[in-house]
Amino acid sequence: MEGRPHLILGLLWQVIKIGLFAKISLQNCPNLAVLLQEGETLEDLMALSPEEILLRWFNYHLEQAGHPRRVNNFSSDIMDSECYTILLDQIAPDEAGVDCSPLSEGNLERRADKMLGQAHKIGCRKFVRPKDVVKGNARLNLAFVANLFNTHPALKPPEEGLPDFDLGEYGETREEKTFRNWMNSLGVSPFVNNLYSDLKDGLVLLQLFDKVKPGIVNWSKVNQKETFKKIGGNMKKLENCNYAVEIAHQMGFSLVGIDGKDIADGNKTLTLAVVWQMMRAYTLSMLQRLAGSDKPISDPEIVDWTNTTLRDSGKTTSITGFRDPAISNSMPVIDLVDAIKPGSIKYELVNCGTSLSDEELIQNAKYAISMCRKIGARVYALPDDLVEIKPKMCLTVFACLMIRAKTGKK
Ligand SMILES: *[C@@H]1O[C@H](CO)[C@@H](O)[C@H](O)[C@H]1NC(C)=O
Ligand SMILES: *[C@@H]1O[C@H](CO)[C@@H](O)[C@H](O)[C@H]1NC(C)=O
Ligand SMILES: *[C@@H]1O[C@H](CO)[C@@H](O)[C@H](O)[C@H]1NC(C)=O
Ligand SMILES: *[C@@H]1O[C@H](CO)[C@@H](O)[C@H](O)[C@H]1NC(C)=O
Repeated sequence: MEGRPHLILGLLWQVIKIGLFAKISLQNCPNLAVLLQEGETLEDLMALSPEEILLRWFNYHLEQAGHPRRVNNFSSDIMDSECYTILLDQIAPDEAGVDCSPLSEGNLERRADKMLGQAHKIGCRKFVRPKDVVKGNARLNLAFVANLFNTHPALKPPEEGLPDFDLGEYGETREEKTFRNWMNSLGVSPFVNNLYSDLKDGLVLLQLFDKVKPGIVNWSKVNQKETFKKIGGNMKKLENCNYAVEIAHQMGFSLVGIDGKDIADGNKTLTLAVVWQMMRAYTLSMLQRLAGSDKPISDPEIVDWTNTTLRDSGKTTSITGFRDPAISNSMPVIDLVDAIKPGSIKYELVNCGTSLSDEELIQNAKYAISMCRKIGARVYALPDDLVEIKPKMCLTVFACLMIRAKTGKK
């Protein structure tokens, strides 16, 4: 039981991080290109973790201020509030009246308090108390800095102009983001920032397999991170990927033409193929566990449960499968939510009718997904998945609702 609060705090932290780090990308902030160092490409920059980008951003502002110090971490390097004071002075708009006066305070805790007073002037007194600064609490200080970046990046475009690149190419697709959020919500380590580069050593995939089917991974066969730095490290990573693919075969994944090397190389198409099947397997394994069944739950069983649940609550909607055009207006999902938790849907907020506009379809889908989450279904599909009737994603929506219904929360 003792480990429990830690586990919950850990998961909560993962969720907070997902939100805080969402904006730290070239796509959201093209001016990040100014942080490129000699000889680096944009790909190099995109491969950095959000923590690394935030440190660079911090140091960039220290350099711009002509300050001699640099920070390498969010703990001992920030404890005396000196670098923070300089950073705040650099990023605050002139009219905010932020200055470096905290530096004349000798007592570190009082200095931290004054520094946070400056942060308050730009609406950023968040996440840390003076004592968290003085103690160098790494998580809380990281959150403090991430929030400063999100609200006051204060980056100008590079002098030579923004590099010529297609943002779409570097940005993350909706699907990638969903998969990443799902993994992080399960608490994998390390935190997955990039769906491809962070999966290349096989360790995250193996952790996920272990969550989908506890005990399936023989951890004594897995090479740990320490071995990657030594000679032959790439071979160790490849061995992990080969082992992950071997387990995927045991789990009955469809893996035509996929081997460990494709994962180790970060091949997008093939990595996605594995990850998608993993997410589906996880959802179905949750269902199976709840049903206390020794056989996997099949698609028709979910359809059947959906139809029955809808009919039993007097709803007129039904589905024939996960490609059913009836899913497009989200009504089956909305009705199902109301069937699971009667009265939860405000039908006056739903667009009814047979010929809805694209706008109305997406409104319904957004409402449907948000209501799924509101009644406690851990749905990770996105509104567009319903409107566009993406069968794999639609399946997960109904499966997640079924899990919610069977866990019996009211
Ligand atoms: C933080 O980085 C500094 C160097 O900038 C180093 O001396 C210190 O040990 C680091 N602290 C932690 C907790 O890693
Ligand atoms: C796990 O792998 C190790 C090393 O390959 C092997 O000796 C051991 O028998 C395996 N354990 C199980 C339960 O398969
Ligand atoms: C990834 O794998 C697919 C299928 O084998 C192949 O067509 C594609 O060229 C590979 N992509 C890269 C970047 O290697
Ligand atoms: C669900 O309901 C539809 C429409 O009533 C019907 O065509 C379909 O066969 C049903 N499917 C299952 C598995 O119950």
